Amino acid sequence: MSDNKNVNNLATVILAAGMGKRLKWDAPKALAPANGKYLVDYVVSSLKKFYRDNKISGELFFITGHRKDEVEAHLTKNYKDLNLPWTTLVQENQNGTGDAIRTYFEKAKSAQSFAYTLVICADTPLITEAELKILWDKRENVEAIAATFVTKNPTGYGRIARGKTGFKIVEEKDCSQAERKIEEVNAGLYIVKTKYLNEFLKRLNNNNKSGEFYLTDLFQENQNVVASIFPDPHTFEGVNTLAQLEFIEMILRQRKIQELREQGVRFIDATATYIEQDVEVGPASIIYPNVFLQGKTKLGSSVIVETGSIIKNSKIEDKVQVKAHCYITDSVIQKSAAIGPFAHLRPETEIGPEVKIGNFVEIKKSRLGKGAKVSHLSYVGDADIGEESNLGCGFITCNYDGQKKHKTIIGDRTFVGSDSQVVAPVTIGNDCYVASSTTITHNMPDGSFAISRGRQVTKEGLAKKFLKTPKS
Ligand code: UD1
Ligand code: CA
Repeated sequence: MSDNKNVNNLATVILAAGMGKRLKWDAPKALAPANGKYLVDYVVSSLKKFYRDNKISGELFFITGHRKDEVEAHLTKNYKDLNLPWTTLVQENQNGTGDAIRTYFEKAKSAQSFAYTLVICADTPLITEAELKILWDKRENVEAIAATFVTKNPTGYGRIARGKTGFKIVEEKDCSQAERKIEEVNAGLYIVKTKYLNEFLKRLNNNNKSGEFYLTDLFQENQNVVASIFPDPHTFEGVNTLAQLEFIEMILRQRKIQELREQGVRFIDATATYIEQDVEVGPASIIYPNVFLQGKTKLGSSVIVETGSIIKNSKIEDKVQVKAHCYITDSVIQKSAAIGPFAHLRPETEIGPEVKIGNFVEIKKSRLGKGAKVSHLSYVGDADIGEESNLGCGFITCNYDGQKKHKTIIGDRTFVGSDSQVVAPVTIGNDCYVASSTTITHNMPDGSFAISRGRQVTKEGLAKKFLKTPKS
């Protein structure tokens, strides 16, 4: 046991200063997107659970540099209530991971006060609280622990060179021919006694091929340090290139789908289903292939989403059926409604229970009461449609006069015949009947009938005047 009474006291340094040049992405690497969140979010999420589950007290320190304002803005926006204090510290010149830690000790006044220091990179989003706990449980009798794994393709990683009196980490550029062949590599995740780390910084140098200050020089033979081998190499996969970003995104997606599957969600083909990190899906729901559920979307139980549908930031209640190829954003769909195929629900749409929206219907910023039907080829915008009303095929709200948007109100149990339009602003009451092909420009009181189409004229025998004469 350490005599330090704060043995559960841990600072975490998150390295996020690098340029991520190889990624060729127009954002700092920590903010590269992966399955609906950014890389750094996954690291923060794992750390949060790790601190909480193990009752550890401490603080997070983000080392920023390249495009630091964007990283800072993201953290400020999303982690106001993290339940863990955090700070950003700027590393002016990115002279290596050792230099990043030196910056941390220089700038964080409390750095020395934590018993342990955990170092993790912002670009390793697959690490979970489980790996952190494994390292944490080994901390007490050693000065430092490095996570390692074995890979057939060690290119780019620091190699774990084990000798008679321990091991050292050799960066690829500095490897001998023999060291280059070593398949055990450094994952870039460490827990170190703070005192040891501080002592190490005094002898930190850049006498190596790249002229950078390596944190990995912390690990030398004849020291009380350990390399803890983890069986699954994917866990530590870092993101340096777009190919690696795609790879880790695939793993994140698989993890999300497995989590939902365990909660009773059925996938027809999980390899072609795309569900972002924060999405929720209730049990007994069925998700067809080529479905994208994004942002803060929440599906109830027994929901069916058929192929090709994209749903963003929407709430879908129990037993809703979203048929093939619908595009739904920022909307609410209440119980047992049926949408599509080929429907477009734009932001601020509220579909009541048991509503039926059919094919080629677009709805924007509108509310439809219980059991209302818009079954074919319609545009409903800025409208409030009452319960059990039926809007026939080809119904249109003319909501825009070229300058302003206007509102349409239609009451309960009103029937609007096909090929009708309403020139908003207009109010139609309850239990009204609008004849087919009518253009409504004036309000209609409850129970009224309106028709505005021209009367039919029929002239016998006149058709031949307009028809082409047959050739022979
Ligand atoms: C590092 C390790 C290597 C390990 C690999 C695992 C060193 C010297 N090497 O190499 O042994 O196998 O990670 O992925 O540590 N960063 C800063 N400031 C800097 C430099 C880097 O904050 O001055 C950040 C980067 O943004 C990144 C992390 O540190 O998040 C790692 O840096 P990177 O350049 O990717 O290190 P590797 O070459 O991958
Ligand atoms: Ca890296």
